[in-house]
Amino acid sequence: MNAPVITATGLGRDYEVGGTMFAKPKIVRAVAEASFTIAAGKTLAIVGESGCGKSTLARMVTMIEEPTRGSLTIGGTDVVPERWSDLRTDVQIVFQDPYGSLNLRQRVGAILEEPLKINRPEMPAEERKEKALEMIRFVGLREEHYDRYPHMFSGGQRQRIAVARAIMLEPKLLVLDEPVSALDLSIQSQILNLLMDLQERLNLAYLFISHDLSVVRHVADDVAVMYLGRVVETGTKEEVFAAPKHPYSVALLSATPNADPKAERHRIRLGGEIPSPLNIPDGCPFAPRCWKAKDICRSDLPDLAGNGHRAACHFPEN
Ligand SMILES: Nc1ncnc2c1ncn2[C@@H]1O[C@H](COP(=O)(O)OP(=O)(O)OP(=O)(O)O)[C@@H](O)[C@H]1O
Ligand SMILES: [Mg+2]
Repeated sequence: MNAPVITATGLGRDYEVGGTMFAKPKIVRAVAEASFTIAAGKTLAIVGESGCGKSTLARMVTMIEEPTRGSLTIGGTDVVPERWSDLRTDVQIVFQDPYGSLNLRQRVGAILEEPLKINRPEMPAEERKEKALEMIRFVGLREEHYDRYPHMFSGGQRQRIAVARAIMLEPKLLVLDEPVSALDLSIQSQILNLLMDLQERLNLAYLFISHDLSVVRHVADDVAVMYLGRVVETGTKEEVFAAPKHPYSVALLSATPNADPKAERHRIRLGGEIPSPLNIPDGCPFAPRCWKAKDICRSDLPDLAGNGHRAACHFPEN
């Protein structure tokens, strides 16, 4: 078996908010702890509701932010800030909104060549241009697009530009943070197919963040379900979709009508609100909303022990 492209162990990130001269800042536990591995050519999907810590996880993996705790290795190298500049080209990110992430004053050619200018300054301009044109074709755009500005493209085309830029430096891992959520349904599948095609050709590892289970079902190999900054269930896509173990996963899946058209599922409506990450309850963070919760759930935090398909729950489904 080849070594994973990325390994995260107990990764976590806190933020301090609201500190003043007179009051101590409060701690927001955006990611409490997340552990996972992704092999070359494979996709791990991270799913969970808004605010569960998906983007914070993405920022740690892409070395935009330093973790508060835990460890991360990429291609076997420990990711510590002193190594960030060496490792950054191995990990690239594509955001939900290509309009926000592309420099609107630059032409497509300049957008694509910028990472090369910065990271391979010795590369001749001609070669850079050749490479940009190759990527333009690779992602299904046309060579004449090289001289155009982002505003001249549709949303789907702009996302193709963002993907092309992300692969200019031949990364090992792409972090895709809701890459199709802003697109029309018909365009979504085109971009997902492009991503899957690129993955196969370049043997890329994907960390694919999505709140949309029908998208996850389409692209994932493995799935990690997050709730309030923790991975509460993980397994292969087949395992998690066919037989979710954590009540939160059961509820999420029951709310996705087209996730499995063959399965008859009762829709579970979750009561209550997601607790604030400023005020995480003792015990299982899901207990206040869980219909199976017992006393132990309100006092003891269940861990994600073991291997394979597993859930952090005192009373998992089986
Ligand atoms: N820089 C920050 N300072 C303070 N709190 C933050 C910061 N960044 C994120 N948070 C908080 O951490 C929690 C997780 O945020 P994050 O953006 O990672 O969630 P998410 O899962 O990506 O949500 P969404 O689906 O809405 O994108 C949220 O409660 C958020 O308010
Ligand atoms: Mg987010």
